[in-house]
Amino acid sequence: MKKCIFCGGGILCEVPGMMRIIGFTEVFIPSVNNEKVPYFVLLLEDGSGNRCLKKTFEKCSIGDSFDPREEKSRSPIFGVVGTGLLGLQICEFLITKGYGTVLKTRDGHSIHKTLLKMEDKLSRNNSPDAVTGILKKISITTSFSDLSDCDFVIEAAPENIGVKEEIFRALSRICDKKTIFSTNSSSLSIDQLAGVTDRPDRFIGIHFFNPVKRMDLVEVVVGEKTSQETKNRVISELVEMGKNPIVVKDSPGYVVNRLLLPQINEAITLLEEGVATKEDIDNAVKLGLHHPMGPFQLADYIGLDICLSILEVLYSKNKTGEKKPADLLYQLCREGKFGIKTKEGFYKY
Ligand code: 3HC
Repeated sequence: MKKCIFCGGGILCEVPGMMRIIGFTEVFIPSVNNEKVPYFVLLLEDGSGNRCLKKTFEKCSIGDSFDPREEKSRSPIFGVVGTGLLGLQICEFLITKGYGTVLKTRDGHSIHKTLLKMEDKLSRNNSPDAVTGILKKISITTSFSDLSDCDFVIEAAPENIGVKEEIFRALSRICDKKTIFSTNSSSLSIDQLAGVTDRPDRFIGIHFFNPVKRMDLVEVVVGEKTSQETKNRVISELVEMGKNPIVVKDSPGYVVNRLLLPQINEAITLLEEGVATKEDIDNAVKLGLHHPMGPFQLADYIGLDICLSILEVLYSKNKTGEKKPADLLYQLCREGKFGIKTKEGFYKY
């Protein structure tokens, strides 16, 4: 039996089963064989008063039950930059799957609001106890430095190349060498973004779809310099979390948005030309093509501002003669009618 270095008492070497956390130390400074920080050293006790120590990367509270036999090798820690529609959805998905996640927001005042929003989203499908457990996986910060030790960072900022480049410059300054950088961009160039970082080999696109928790597909967008190892790690982690990744070369709009957005644009043109009403065009696509939503409904869900920015990227790169975004789309965006998030787009909500 080992001796506790503080009290000299006995410490069990063989762990008996389910135990209770009676104390813990949060460790922030690396030591020999313990380079990854922060981690927790738990003091556990079973029903007979036997105690043992256990190292964990999971945030815990005194009184929690803990089964030291079941602890798997450490799950990767994710960072998510951006608390918009997709950033929050990605974060919700990751913490529900049990990944420790650091969510970076720009606005310190919104931290409490973001937590409440997350709690509200989670409580639709989980019991209050489960929500409390899931929320332990998230920490919200305004500081890039809190992302420094993440294994993966997913940037989910607005679809603006300048904003995204600025984020990756900041991440390059502070993140550990091991951290894989990824963007959830829906159309922008992976190579251009990788170019502003200190690690183009560890840079990749991870494009989730709306709604993140329900859509199985993830486009893994591979840049010219993305290493095989980065690609393999990202794919295996996505499979582990239950997604179906496909590998896509860096190309404007990747696969899905290059197929989807021209269809939405054409639907708007049909409406502008008075060929049919938006309701009938939606029904035509639902009933005639068996899509779950019509193009106007889907555009309102995605956000008309996002649709416009993707169409502008496709038009400016003009690989296969993509058309200019429709005038009505510009008009609705000028009026601030971005779809569901502003309560009005093609439809009112
Ligand atoms: N965007 C955002 N949220 C969506 C959504 C979409 N396209 N489609 C559905 N949702 C949300 C609903 O609002 C609902 O949210 P709630 O739980 O907060 O009320 C939830 O998903 C469940 O939706 P349904 O009530 O329709 O539930 P179903 O079980 O009947 O169906 C579904 C779920 C299979 C996701 C079905 O709604 C569907 O197929 N929707 C279309 C999804 C789609 O086409 N996504 C691709 C968007 S393109 C994209 O994301 C790329 C990006 O880069 C632009």
